[in-house]
Amino acid sequence: MQVRSTVLTALLVIGFAATAQAPASLKGAYQGDFVIGAAINAAQITGEDARGDATLKAQFNSISPENCLKWESVHPQPDRYDFTIPDLYVAFGEKNHMFIVGHNLVWHNQVPAWVFRDDKGSLLDRDALLARMRDHIHTVVGRYKGRIQSWDVVNEALNEDGTLRQSLWEKIIGDDYIAKAFQYAHEADPQAQLTYNDYNLENEAKRKGAIALVTKLKAEGVPITSVGLQGHDSLTWPTVDQMDAAISDFAKLDVKVAISELDIDVLPPAARQQTADVTLNIQQNAALNPYVNGLPDSVQQQLAKRYADLFGVFLKHRDVVTRVTFWGVTDGDSWRNDWPVRGRTSYPLLFDRAGQPKAAFDAVIRAAGQPAS
Ligand code: XIL
Repeated sequence: MQVRSTVLTALLVIGFAATAQAPASLKGAYQGDFVIGAAINAAQITGEDARGDATLKAQFNSISPENCLKWESVHPQPDRYDFTIPDLYVAFGEKNHMFIVGHNLVWHNQVPAWVFRDDKGSLLDRDALLARMRDHIHTVVGRYKGRIQSWDVVNEALNEDGTLRQSLWEKIIGDDYIAKAFQYAHEADPQAQLTYNDYNLENEAKRKGAIALVTKLKAEGVPITSVGLQGHDSLTWPTVDQMDAAISDFAKLDVKVAISELDIDVLPPAARQQTADVTLNIQQNAALNPYVNGLPDSVQQQLAKRYADLFGVFLKHRDVVTRVTFWGVTDGDSWRNDWPVRGRTSYPLLFDRAGQPKAAFDAVIRAAGQPAS
């Protein structure tokens, strides 16, 4: 009896210690709610960033390609595709049993100028550009058929007022370039989830435009399965109510919602308006870069609370939110160190420059235990 209870106590102590020490993981905390993703860069894909890879494996169950599947990277010249990094990207996801995202097929940025022009440098006509788009989509989506589970088919097609952006895609092909892109992607991989991805859809005018777009696509039978809310957020934008309303509005259209590129800026706003326009390049000055030597604890706590609040909304909508993807692993990796101002020290993610979890990480883990009603 004595021996048994001693053994039992010992087991309990060991068990408790194991539980207490087991590092919490993001993917574990949200198991059954949605997958937790990270955008990964070339160093993580090739294994050069071993520390980043260890964090990815321990914490995340989905990946997005930060740059390697954009047109300029994967298809730099008319007759040349470069699948070296993308092949390793997909292999990384498969090896680690992750939900693999493709980003992106049709966008007006990070696309070479030749795409829209013929040999003489003149703009293509509608049919020629559609043929080129179809070829690109079939080649890239087809290569990873059944392996990349979700594609961002069209990225950022809307203006802030909700009208369609007059990109070269729109000007040359017409408004139906979006429907065509989804159709080609569906032909190339009928099983893949297909997403319309954009920023600022939490703002009313742009959201209305997106709702009209998705409604039209659905009415025409276009195979769109989800809307991606990029989520390049700040400490004050979007409000919890805006986020809540945006997700609810898209859910009503019978599409899923992915939070596709989440990061939260704590630095002074450099642009006049909230945006995620990658072409912005604003002049640096000291006032715009206040935390070069570290983030004050008060701001660290604000960031943590902000993350907890947003995850409360995501959890409330866990029936429609399929994925929450962070745009990078650590603060050091983040594009926000160089955008919209080059050379700032930014703190938008859950892991610090040493790869250590921040207060925001704990807040996100804790938020999983308390779904908002
Ligand atoms: C960014 C990458 O993070 C940067 O490395 C690159 O220089 C520019 O693009 N919206 C998107 C993403 O859809 O593809 C962008 O990624 C960030 C904004």
